Amino acid sequence: MKAILLHDFGGPSELYVGNVDQPEISTQEILVRIKCSALNRADTLQRKGKYPPPSGASEILGLEMAGEVVSVGESVTKWEIGDRVMGLLSGGGYAQFINIHEDLAMPIPTGFSFEEAAAIPEVFLTAYQALVDLSNLQIGEQVLIHAGASGVGTAAIQLAKSLGAAQVFVTASKAKHELCKSLGADHCIDYRNEDFAKVINDKTNGKGVNVILDFLMAAYFQQNLNAIALDGRLVMLATMGGIQVSEVNLVNILRRRARIIGTTLRSRSHTYKSKLTKGMLELTFDKFETGDLKPVVDRVFDWNDVGKAHQFMEDNKNKGKIILKIGD
Ligand SMILES: NC(=O)c1ccc[n+]([C@@H]2O[C@H](COP(=O)([O-])OP(=O)(O)OC[C@H]3O[C@@H](n4cnc5c(N)ncnc54)[C@H](OP(=O)(O)O)[C@@H]3O)[C@@H](O)[C@H]2O)c1
Repeated sequence: MKAILLHDFGGPSELYVGNVDQPEISTQEILVRIKCSALNRADTLQRKGKYPPPSGASEILGLEMAGEVVSVGESVTKWEIGDRVMGLLSGGGYAQFINIHEDLAMPIPTGFSFEEAAAIPEVFLTAYQALVDLSNLQIGEQVLIHAGASGVGTAAIQLAKSLGAAQVFVTASKAKHELCKSLGADHCIDYRNEDFAKVINDKTNGKGVNVILDFLMAAYFQQNLNAIALDGRLVMLATMGGIQVSEVNLVNILRRRARIIGTTLRSRSHTYKSKLTKGMLELTFDKFETGDLKPVVDRVFDWNDVGKAHQFMEDNKNKGKIILKIGD
């Protein structure tokens, strides 16, 4: 089969379409002809050699896909040849075929294109994991979502509102505020010109937010602690703002009884991912079909332009997901 490969670790120009062996399936797996994959920040790190796949995972980039089942293992009960599926992968999404355990594949909501479906798995599973599984968001609570127009951010804004959050605050560059508002954000903070902790404390009478989804880690650690409410939960998902803090006032961890939770998705066990997939589907599938939740697709790149797609993400130009159309 054809797949996107790397000449060497490095810049976007290292990516090219080449030939590799097609994956084989075990008894509980299905083989999917991938129609679309989608970009994740992690792909850009893996391309640079800074994010090796977990042991046993494909070396090929790509953490999610949407496509059609072309073959099923002998113990598979959930899927038939021809079914339209989407799913989270540990790797291998930038390719024509992928093997995936039947429990990790999800049905594509009625009427969704493969482009739209490929924009769902990683960001909605991450948002579901952070808001439901880890922070246990309650109706009427206040939420702060950093990088509101990121892929994960666009899913998290919608999910938080749909779970009954009272107010959703986001940080994003100004040009992306309109999109965040259209997805349900109540307050958009231009992080380049405003102190988000101050805005939040002003708007909540000093109470702060109950749940924070953070991707910046070191850069926002102090402000996050300044903005967290009593019994608040700070979920850390990425290190986009660095990992070293030289001076930080930790007192709010104690005074506000804050909980700090770090998480990853790719390296989780099969059992955990299956449970997460099932829970996310139960909560969201009908909402996708009714249009209450929607994947946000910024643009679709042909896989021959994968380098341009990576550059687009690294320039922070995307609002929502960047899709890769997998060719013949
Ligand atoms: N731990 C996990 O389980 C997990 C799962 C999925 C993803 N992730 C991670 O989550 C992060 C987001 O992923 P993604 O694919 O959704 O990202 P993405 O679509 O590439 O978006 C990232 C956005 O962050 C924004 N940003 C940059 N600096 C910022 C700052 N100082 N404050 C607020 N926003 C800022 C940029 O938009 P602006 O123009 O607004 O700056 C940028 O577009 C990545 O680092 C990814 O690796 C983690």
